Amino acid sequence: MTQFRGKTKICYGRYALDTLEELPCTRAFVVTDPFMVKSGFADQITSHLERRNIPHCLFSHVEPDPSLETVKRGTVEFVSARADLIVALGGGSAIDTAKAIAFFAGRAAPQLPRPLLAAIPTTSGTGSEVTAISVVTDKTHGVKIPLNDELLIPDVAILDARFTRTVPPSVTAATGMDVLTHAVEAYTSRENNAFTDMLAVQAIRYVFSFLFKAYQQMEDMQAREMMLLGSCMAGMAFNNSGLGITHSMAHALGGQFHIPHGLANAVLLPHTIRFNSFDAGVRYRELARIIGLPHANVEEGTSALVEAVLRLNENMGIPTRIRDLKVEETAFRAALDTMASHALDDMCTKSNPRRPSLADLRLLLEQAW
Ligand SMILES: NC(=O)c1ccc[n+]([C@@H]2O[C@H](COP(=O)([O-])OP(=O)(O)OC[C@H]3O[C@@H](n4cnc5c(N)ncnc54)[C@H](O)[C@@H]3O)[C@@H](O)[C@H]2O)c1
Ligand SMILES: [Fe+2]
Repeated sequence: MTQFRGKTKICYGRYALDTLEELPCTRAFVVTDPFMVKSGFADQITSHLERRNIPHCLFSHVEPDPSLETVKRGTVEFVSARADLIVALGGGSAIDTAKAIAFFAGRAAPQLPRPLLAAIPTTSGTGSEVTAISVVTDKTHGVKIPLNDELLIPDVAILDARFTRTVPPSVTAATGMDVLTHAVEAYTSRENNAFTDMLAVQAIRYVFSFLFKAYQQMEDMQAREMMLLGSCMAGMAFNNSGLGITHSMAHALGGQFHIPHGLANAVLLPHTIRFNSFDAGVRYRELARIIGLPHANVEEGTSALVEAVLRLNENMGIPTRIRDLKVEETAFRAALDTMASHALDDMCTKSNPRRPSLADLRLLLEQAW
């Protein structure tokens, strides 16, 4: 049997924020990061809650790549707030933190009813607003822990591109390459299906049509809107199909070194495409055709796709090698075995089209150096 799950109610476009006034709740807990408070974006959320006289608490301590400590602190505050709605406002880090808080609160205080979870993404990247995944970093052991549970899927996603208008070009580039990696890995996954293909293809079209525009012109709102939709579509796709070893290696790399998740994917994706080409070449060729690249045969289509990814990276100032991501060589080499081993055990590895060995992953990381 093949199945597709899509639990989240998606509200988007103008007036989508009004949804906040329609959610059944008595007390809200807003999870966000310091930028959202400083920029006034958090006020946009609280003012909607205030219009309905919903008391609320603000937890604004989320850092990029949220730590277990932040999640623990948030869980304690959430349990004592006795809220029945969690609103996550921010990039993947804030949304993942909110999801993990809801999850751990269910364990810490099982007597409390499960809160409603509303996610408002402010980056076009992770698709976390519709996925069952929350990535939390264990800073002590230098490892990213992806939690994966149906309970983590937000009930409501509110997509309002105005929240993404202020994303600086470097973050637009990195998060946009995360969208592309989600979509390419979903399309070539061992667990893809007709529905995930449709969503992945549309997300890839949006990335190649609009990512560079959003990067070049921060206030190109059409480009921002399309990237936000593409990000959500890619999230829906990979939530059903799983991902691949670009993500496995990016998680391992990001756990050891503080590299933005999307940047790690951007550097690794061309290597993965070449590595998978025997098993997934036909699919890469289809993608090359869809985005208008040369695709006379599998080899040409695959190379054209690799070149297109490299070109997009280059146009947005993304380096092509790990050594250019402020990673120190001795530390990288010392961590190679650990990273390869973490990548092999990562849950994304099982849906990769080609089964890698430990040595394959070590070599791929070395090649990307
Ligand atoms: N849950 C999932 O399915 C999933 C998938 C992929 C990645 N992740 C995880 O998500 C995290 C990365 O999330 P991200 O890439 O969205 O970045 P992020 O949330 O870490 O944000 C990156 C930076 O951009 C800033 N920022 C966010 N929105 C902004 C805005 N509108 N204007 C200006 N600045 C803004 C943040 O303050 C932060 O400093 C990583 O921990 C990654 O592992 C989760
Ligand atoms: Fe990702």
